Amino acid sequence: MSFPITINGTLHQVDDSLSGTKLLDYLHEVTNLTGTKLCCGIGICRACTVSVRKAGNDYAEPMIACSTPLNLLSGAVITTIEGVAEGDRLSAIQQAFLDNFAFQCGYCAPGFIMASEVFLSWLQTAQVSEAELDGLIENAIGDHICRCTGYIRYYEALRDVAVKTLEAKP
Ligand code: FES
Ligand code: FES
Repeated sequence: MSFPITINGTLHQVDDSLSGTKLLDYLHEVTNLTGTKLCCGIGICRACTVSVRKAGNDYAEPMIACSTPLNLLSGAVITTIEGVAEGDRLSAIQQAFLDNFAFQCGYCAPGFIMASEVFLSWLQTAQVSEAELDGLIENAIGDHICRCTGYIRYYEALRDVAVKTLEAKP
């Protein structure tokens, strides 16, 4: 038997024998999607964050791939860092991180990007004011660990895009 998982728009039938396999291992070893990074491996640093919309939900949430077994993801729709850009066109937050020199080695960047993508997607329909953004951004990326930078440029880049997202709302 198998169960379905959609990754970056491609449907995968996952054999039941892989139920306990961690999502990160599946991404790396089976799908050859290696952009999601393994760092601590124990659910602390969030370098391995991907976007997951679970079956039955109409919203995506950030999920740590290193610690999530596939059997919790039957029917889920997953987006990894490879699924963010449209061809050569970077997403708004990818471009903002570059423009703000937000990262150095870049190892943590896919996790920051995926958490930010989930946050910005939520922001498009949420009823929030600009005054609330600081706390919301802290919630969205405040637990991510970066060993190179001071975090502030990640924060400022996400704030820039978040403000534009609010301004663009009808
Ligand atoms: S590698 Fe997954 S939380 Fe650190
Ligand atoms: S830029 Fe190197 S770990 Fe964040």
